[in-house]
Amino acid sequence: MTAVTKRQPRIELSTSALQHNFKRVRKVAPHSKVVCMVKADAYGHGIEFALNALQDTDAFGVACISEARQIRQLGYKQPVTLIEGVFSPAEWIEASQQQFECVVHQQQQVQWALAHPHTYQKNNLKIWLKLNSGMNRLGLQPDELLTAALKLRAAGFELVLTMHFANADVPDHPLNQQQIQTFLHLKQQLEPIEASCCNSAAIFNWPELHFNYVRPGIMLYGASPYDNIIANKLDLRPVMHLKSNLIAIQHVNVEQVIGYGSRFTTTRPTRLGIVAIGYGDGYPRALTHGAYVSIQGHEAPLLGRVSMDLLAVDLTDLPTSIHIGDEVTLWGDNPSVDLIAKHNNTIGYELLCRLTQRVKRISLNAEGNILIKSN
Ligand SMILES: Cc1ncc(COP(=O)(O)O)c(C=O)c1O
Repeated sequence: MTAVTKRQPRIELSTSALQHNFKRVRKVAPHSKVVCMVKADAYGHGIEFALNALQDTDAFGVACISEARQIRQLGYKQPVTLIEGVFSPAEWIEASQQQFECVVHQQQQVQWALAHPHTYQKNNLKIWLKLNSGMNRLGLQPDELLTAALKLRAAGFELVLTMHFANADVPDHPLNQQQIQTFLHLKQQLEPIEASCCNSAAIFNWPELHFNYVRPGIMLYGASPYDNIIANKLDLRPVMHLKSNLIAIQHVNVEQVIGYGSRFTTTRPTRLGIVAIGYGDGYPRALTHGAYVSIQGHEAPLLGRVSMDLLAVDLTDLPTSIHIGDEVTLWGDNPSVDLIAKHNNTIGYELLCRLTQRVKRISLNAEGNILIKSN
């Protein structure tokens, strides 16, 4: 029997899985530079861990300058792209000095660039000029973009034409073709110009659109960008395993209720395992029927509501060799984070990003040994 000496919800992070997934990007998009998306603390995996594993990348992509600063503070010199660009002239100047390439998606940013071109250009930085090709989130309309491109070029800037898909996860969605045609039309008008439009799903869908830079996010972390294709089928490996331990076992009779709200009533004498993890750690509360954890390779269904610090699973059909102290996998190889997300009516991205500080982080190097351990 394993002794539990402290409460230990934890994530184990695999360098070899991350490197495998990165190599998948290289294999699927062999002619493009790769901008690894490490925004939102590397999709919740920890930026330090991710940067260390992704040293062969051509560039990193982040959402804001504070994330970019972190990359430099940790000593990484690769190009960094700010995918929302800067939020003030001061940030533009800092980006120019720190060598962060900026997306320009609105007129104010065009003005800031035109007002302060020198350091940016001296450092050979390109402007990622963003087209609103139909997602209607960020980006200039086609006619605005052409005008901005002319002005920026006249001021000496080099450009990358960029956009983002709204439905790359649904390849035959009609908006995709509309976005592609708008993008290609603009690209043709601005030739010669570098281009970038592919996130993970688009990388798989449209090799002909890889262009100069691809921007993988979720595929690096081993979750699926699609609703209906599992990560395994795409030869992606989960980087994160969320684990905890069994800290109690209850033997309850038939017609007993379990947990808050008494939402579950036993229909048979039940051996109930109590796992030390809950929504206070980031495990989702709103789970629908059918979610499970894995213990010693066996699937144990969740019973009743997930509480802040604990959840209950059904051990009745599992071997009696399962005891207090045993390791429990909440997501990783099985179940996948995508499966748990589905049971929660969300996507793997969200679950990965919303783990709380209480969860210990254990980074494993390529040989599987502990590299970094938090708290
Ligand atoms: C502009 C941009 N490019 C690339 C990505 C990466 O997307 P994914 O994680 O689906 O690969 C994102 C993520 O939201 C993004 O906003």
